[in-house]
Amino acid sequence: MSKLIDGKAFADRLCDTLSSEIASLKQAHQLSPCIAVVLVGEDPASATYVGAKVRRCEQLGIDSRSHHLPATTSEADLLALIEQLNTDPEVHGILVQLPVPKHIDSNSVINAINPDKDVDGFHISNAGALAVGQNNMVPCTPLGSLMLLQDELGDLSGLNAVVVGRSNIVGKPMAALLLQQSCTVTVAHSRTKDLPAVCREADILVAAVGIPHFIQGDWIKPGATVIDVGINRIQDSETGKNRLVGDVDFAAAKDVAGAITPVPGGVGPMTIACLMYNTVRAAKNQAGIKD
Ligand code: GUN
Repeated sequence: MSKLIDGKAFADRLCDTLSSEIASLKQAHQLSPCIAVVLVGEDPASATYVGAKVRRCEQLGIDSRSHHLPATTSEADLLALIEQLNTDPEVHGILVQLPVPKHIDSNSVINAINPDKDVDGFHISNAGALAVGQNNMVPCTPLGSLMLLQDELGDLSGLNAVVVGRSNIVGKPMAALLLQQSCTVTVAHSRTKDLPAVCREADILVAAVGIPHFIQGDWIKPGATVIDVGINRIQDSETGKNRLVGDVDFAAAKDVAGAITPVPGGVGPMTIACLMYNTVRAAKNQAGIKD
């Protein structure tokens, strides 16, 4: 049986540290970190994620300003709100929950955010900075995944890392971070030939495809460290109830992997903790306070 990587416990520890830092920023610098969270439309999964983010802010003493806009909001109106938040000195971080409705171009929205307030790290200049090793705001899910890997394995240098998935939110920034740690990185995707054989080479396997139970137990190298980024809602065949599962067939993988993140309780809590981390860093940067 593999070791379970407890992302919830790691996230709680990170948030405890941030909570103390926020208290001292308020006391010593009269600085109150603040994030604006924008949700457009009624997607229930997005509403759940936004709710979890806002609750974590409250726990840590980060001010959050929620902007819930109707699904019919025009792109121009959304861009106008972002511009207002960009110029508001009290707002240090701006998060627009994705996906946005189809009539809005998500790249235009992401690139309208001031890169220094882009706590998601999705702005084209933050993506470019990451690609050339001049990290500014780093996307939360890959950052949290890297923290778990370093906690588990220490130095990652020379390890074979396979990232399955090439999204701008997870796959590409994850690959960039692992490359910065001197891993030998392969980015696999839907067109990869003999994906099982590619995965079997991985000392570190990051699954970010968004397909429940996609990665099979016999695709995993014995002893590998597996990071399961998937959050998929499926109906349990026995109970008929909805439950969350990852992109990895956990029941099979847990007998092969050396260590594995569970779903829920693995990467998910780290994504939110890293959003808090980025918000505190953004606030300090904007106030001219050194890390
Ligand atoms: N949708 C899915 N994941 C994310 C995320 O990390 N940030 C935002 N803004 N939207 C998302």
